Amino acid sequence: MKRIKIIDLFRPEHLGKEVCVMGWVRTRRGNKHVQFVALNDGSTVKNVQIVFDMAQFTDEQLKPITTGSAIKVDGLLVESMGKGQSVEIQARTLEVFGTADPESYPLQKKGHTLEFLREKAHLRPRTNTFGAILRVRSALAFAIHKFFQERGFFYLNTPLITASDCEGAGAMFQVTTLDLNNLPKNEEGKVDYSADFFGKPTALTVSGQLEGELGATALGAIYTFGPTFRAENSNTPRHLSEFWMIEPEVAFFDITDNMDLAEDFIKYCIKYALDNCRDDIDFLAEHYDNELVERLKFVLDNEFVRLSYTEGVKILEESKHKFEFPVYWGADLQSEHERYLVEEHFKKPVILTDYPKEIKAFYMKLNEDNKTVRAMDVLFPKIGEIIGGSEREENFDKLSARIEELDIPMKDMWWYLDTRRFGTVPHAGFGLGFERLVLFVTGMTNIRDVIPFPRTPNNAEF
Ligand code: 4AD
Ligand code: MG
Repeated sequence: MKRIKIIDLFRPEHLGKEVCVMGWVRTRRGNKHVQFVALNDGSTVKNVQIVFDMAQFTDEQLKPITTGSAIKVDGLLVESMGKGQSVEIQARTLEVFGTADPESYPLQKKGHTLEFLREKAHLRPRTNTFGAILRVRSALAFAIHKFFQERGFFYLNTPLITASDCEGAGAMFQVTTLDLNNLPKNEEGKVDYSADFFGKPTALTVSGQLEGELGATALGAIYTFGPTFRAENSNTPRHLSEFWMIEPEVAFFDITDNMDLAEDFIKYCIKYALDNCRDDIDFLAEHYDNELVERLKFVLDNEFVRLSYTEGVKILEESKHKFEFPVYWGADLQSEHERYLVEEHFKKPVILTDYPKEIKAFYMKLNEDNKTVRAMDVLFPKIGEIIGGSEREENFDKLSARIEELDIPMKDMWWYLDTRRFGTVPHAGFGLGFERLVLFVTGMTNIRDVIPFPRTPNNAEF
């Protein structure tokens, strides 16, 4: 008999028919007359109940059915009398694929802490919580492609290994095939990278933006969606060393177009998840965050507040709130500042624009005041910065001057500057941290819990 996924069992056409299901046992309980098994196959957060009439099965047959074991059951799908489920399967045949010794299988009881499950990241996808999170994550990835494809954006694949540092933060993972115990040296006694695999120093990319701009100034509108890497030693609930970023880049866009796109985009993704992952979101809301659905709907129903960094800093300076980090014009805003604006002051998502040029990357378009750049950060409740973007400096002279000012090696940037030399156009784009979006939509509080196998300082297990 052909296997039916548990999510499809709940459709009316299977009722009263013989079905075949395969999955992992969550629990078994019962007495000597009847045994109940809750089975999950990952297709939905819902388990299906399987009823074993012990007049037809022996204790010996059911003995291997412990939490975590994998089985196949054929039987009749009937309406359930019991509480908590609409249908159940009256088992006719049982096959055990794999047992899970109760002495050693770690996921015995319900309600393991998220910290405990992080240590068991190889098995945590089998819990209801991580099943739900991973399904929401998958749906959001699909929504992102759908949003851009429906709007005529092209998916551009930018390199993961690069010789340029887009954000200029200097926190990159070096890529080399040199023997670290026996490094070739040049006359000055420095490492001779001409002997390295690419003939020069390379690293994992922190952002696909620079190459994204090459795509946008040819195809008009592109987006990237791939892994990015940051070697910053920030052990926070919002930072990963390896995270996924979505970076749209659009020719002929100014910062207002960019803000409109960012707001539409993020609302689209949230709505998609609410429309398509309701069981999973409801499960997460029930177990972790009672206000989750309300918060998601609230974002959909409200226009984001748009204000300048200067106005934002003024509000922060005038507030009575005690911040851990000082706030003044020119300071890089901390998560506590961002969240104060969003959660306490406006009680709405906020797009902050026109930051001081000193605290933003070299490629951002300089404003007429010569002090601020056309940057935009989208700030979200519980998250802080979820999107960072800007209108780009399209003027060749201004951009080269900025590159020189910041001591960025010009020889590495010639290809980027060529976009400003040949047919330069106004353009803009932004980057959405995928895991920060998944955090927001699932109501989780630690970014390590929304990516299957997190990479953070001192942690590259699994
Ligand atoms: O603000 P960031 O550094 O901007 C860029 O990389 C630009 N090149 C984007 C662009 O304009 N095309 O990063 C963008 C977003 C942040 O807003 C945040 O959501 C996320 O990426 N992010 C991280 N997420 C997880 N862990 C980290 N260490 C992150 N660093 C940034
Ligand atoms: Mg940023």
